[in-house]
Amino acid sequence: MAERVVRIGMLGCGTVGSAVARTLHEHADDIARRAGVRLAIARVAVRDLGRERDVPLARDAFTTDGVAIVDDPEIDVVLELLGGLEPARTLALRALSAGKPVVSGNKELLAHAGGELEDTAHASGVDLAYEAAVAGGIPLIRPLRESLAGDRVTRMLGIVNGTTNYILTQMSEHGWGFDQALAEAQRLGYAEADPSADVEGFDAAAKCAILASIAFDARVTIDDVFREGITGITSADIADAARLGYVMKLLAIAELDDGDVSVRVHPAMVPSAHPLASVRDAYNAVFIEADKAGRLMFYGRGAGGDPTGTSVIGDLIRVGRHLVYGGRMQSGEGGTAERRIRPIAEAHGQYYLNLHVEDRPGVLAEIAEVFGRNGVSIERVWQEGAGEEASLVFITHRANEGGFQATLRELRERSSVRAVVSLLRVEGDE
Ligand SMILES: NC(=O)c1ccc[n+]([C@@H]2O[C@H](COP(=O)([O-])OP(=O)(O)OC[C@H]3O[C@@H](n4cnc5c(N)ncnc54)[C@H](OP(=O)(O)O)[C@@H]3O)[C@@H](O)[C@H]2O)c1
Repeated sequence: MAERVVRIGMLGCGTVGSAVARTLHEHADDIARRAGVRLAIARVAVRDLGRERDVPLARDAFTTDGVAIVDDPEIDVVLELLGGLEPARTLALRALSAGKPVVSGNKELLAHAGGELEDTAHASGVDLAYEAAVAGGIPLIRPLRESLAGDRVTRMLGIVNGTTNYILTQMSEHGWGFDQALAEAQRLGYAEADPSADVEGFDAAAKCAILASIAFDARVTIDDVFREGITGITSADIADAARLGYVMKLLAIAELDDGDVSVRVHPAMVPSAHPLASVRDAYNAVFIEADKAGRLMFYGRGAGGDPTGTSVIGDLIRVGRHLVYGGRMQSGEGGTAERRIRPIAEAHGQYYLNLHVEDRPGVLAEIAEVFGRNGVSIERVWQEGAGEEASLVFITHRANEGGFQATLRELRERSSVRAVVSLLRVEGDE
């Protein structure tokens, strides 16, 4: 049978787009042999036609007109690697509405407009694939959607932002403060000049929304995700965590809580024996708990042109094969489940609390009573120091966030509590 060529219209040729072009060229024969189709980038949209690009593509393949590529009847698949919400959203919707499959690596697009894109793809009967949008080079979306489709995922804990993981790793291994670790991350190119999308947790929240949507057949957007970044984490917090046998990580957490979806991003103390604790520097990992499969962990490079490009090419192969040999991707054909997004006050978590207290008999009992009255049970408590500067340190059992916040409010009002020294969340303990 004659080899079939799938013609790709690529929107964007930056870090990821140019890596995709190079790998498709370098691995062309392997891909054609494995996939039974030959993938060819036929046209490319960029902003600046004059920019030098290290890609094996003809100069006349380039244009600044993304719409012309989407509308070109010779283009079989649209590959969106522009980044940002617009014009990516408009172009992707235009392609899908016209019956062209879309592959994207754009987490922002999927976390804001994933539902709209899925609906349009479904209505047109074409594929929408975005493996690269979460954790770059780590296969995650396809395992969740296909390999685990017969199981029930109950919980995901992810280190899905390499910049913050690099910063926290440096803080814990060198005893640095946040500013010093951030400066080093910027010097090495791990962090942007404006690092807020990473350090404030927005990037992780977008990925959390995408993963939760897939794992729980729900419609979760970035606006549903509770978010707290790492800018408030001090070297003292990290040292405290280490002393107690924990490592500090920024986690994206998506879980089913009595049928509701709970989604949140925040720093958390992870027990040093937990598999996520060993994920260092800019690496990513997602730890999954499922009813039957049990515990799984996916680990690897969450960013970078080549790793991310590998995920993109995997999607292109599948979509290309469907075009040539028939078939459709699995994407919630049976519709989405009606799931409530649980507000953070109703979520459940474990907490670490360090209080400076007045050193007199009865203070511990008084404080324990406040915990108990608000339904928060204490797993461990110990006292450190003596005299004026006595500290009480608590780790709670899993408790309701609202109950814990009420406990905290009451404790702050007690004259016996001099200061709340630190409050950290604990994950992966129970
Ligand atoms: N980089 C990573 O490690 C990584 C990892 C996972 C996912 N992703 C995602 O992959 C996507 C691409 O990322 P990237 O790092 O490759 O971005 P990038 O290096 O900034 O490249 C963006 C490309 O899009 C082009 N572009 C932007 N706006 C355009 C417009 N309005 N019209 C035409 N062309 C336009 C740019 O043209 P010029 O070249 O002319 O400026 C550039 O070629 C993003 O959604 C990103 O979140 C990236």
